Amino acid sequence: MESPEEKVVAVIMVGGPTKGTRFRPLSFNTPKPLFPLAGQPMVHHPISACKRIPNLARIFLIGFYEEKEFALYVSSISSELKIPVRYLKEDKPHGSAGALYYFRDIIMEDKPSHIFLLNCDVCCSFPLREMLEAHRRFSGIGTMLVIKVSAESANQFGELIADTVTKELLHYTEKPETFVSDLINCGVYVFTPDIFSAIKGVYSHLEDRFGICRVSSFDHFQSTTRSVPVDFVRLDQDILSPLAGKKKLYTYETMDFWEQIKTPGVSLKCSALYLSQFCQTSPHLLAGGDGTKNAMIVGDVYIHPSVKVHPTAKIGPNVSISANVRVGPGVRLINCIILDNVEIKDNAVVINSIIGWKSSLGRWSRVQGNEDYNAKLGITILGEAVTVEDEVVIVNSIVLPNKSLHVSFQDEIIL
Ligand code: GDD
Repeated sequence: MESPEEKVVAVIMVGGPTKGTRFRPLSFNTPKPLFPLAGQPMVHHPISACKRIPNLARIFLIGFYEEKEFALYVSSISSELKIPVRYLKEDKPHGSAGALYYFRDIIMEDKPSHIFLLNCDVCCSFPLREMLEAHRRFSGIGTMLVIKVSAESANQFGELIADTVTKELLHYTEKPETFVSDLINCGVYVFTPDIFSAIKGVYSHLEDRFGICRVSSFDHFQSTTRSVPVDFVRLDQDILSPLAGKKKLYTYETMDFWEQIKTPGVSLKCSALYLSQFCQTSPHLLAGGDGTKNAMIVGDVYIHPSVKVHPTAKIGPNVSISANVRVGPGVRLINCIILDNVEIKDNAVVINSIIGWKSSLGRWSRVQGNEDYNAKLGITILGEAVTVEDEVVIVNSIVLPNKSLHVSFQDEIIL
């Protein structure tokens, strides 16, 4: 049981503009962590999960995006949740553990007994309370969320072996070439402050090995054996692997949904997962008639209150429509994300697609994908301000911003 004095803080790793390149062309316009899934920024989902942690004092977002990109969101979410949320900007990437260490003094200001660390680009039910309870029972320095995935997909993640009874992490290997286990690291952790000593140990080792006096003064120094700069410490390779089997790290397995969000295709799938979670946890966020101007709604749908929808439109399932979109008569929307200020004219159809900000779809036009979330052209993506003229059909294509499409395309990347 937690004592009332024990404080907990949460840290969410949001990365920066040089990461998330697989999220193009959508990351040209918005930092990936602010891309909307089920109508809420990606980072909003882990943040709202943190709100359920007992004695949560503060949430930090750590990244190397410009502060101004997060300023508006951070101030609005802080007042909405009534929990201080603060963005901490790294001057350059320090790696997932290095970034945590870099801001250790600020993170420890509240003297927390526990620190949650969450990757921003994962989609799950974030069972943080349960993890914290398990972590207290295990009495290690860290507990990580793990899940079983298919043996074919496991090598995209950290693969691990855990003791079936004690749940101790026995062996950990990051994205191995040969199969180790179908149990993988979900990128969600809870640590005691001892994690900082463990990271410091890695820095000290690097200093001894490479003769570095002050880690921060050695920008991008490359060693012969490490493929990353020595002031860059990765949680997985540099901390989890060496600490496995030392009775310090434990695992908590989720049986619920989990996805890693690296591409727009997967973000469409994750939008569906979060919409269906809203159905259980926050049904008031889903379109149900009132705010939808009587359009026909099928399944889980999010519609921003400012959207204008014609009553003859049919929308759903898995549709998320952002601010100031106009949906005309006879429009059909299935399995799609429509971003701010899009206009969809009469009888247009959008299926398995993401429509970029300020785009315009003409009358009787059709934008469609195959619903293969993992294939490069498995859904159709229109970048910002793309115009699809009347009756034009776009199938399984990626269209870069500011294009005007007068003819139909299939299986193309339109640059
Ligand atoms: N602030 C900051 N600074 N964030 C970073 C940095 C950094 O230098 N490097 C990575 N991140 C953030 C990313 O934005 C992401 O949210 C998270 O840290 C992990 O990113 P990567 O280090 O690129 O790892 P990954 O996503 O390929 O894999 C990790 O997560 C998987 C779960 O999604 C590994 O831990 C895998 O083992 C794990 O399965």
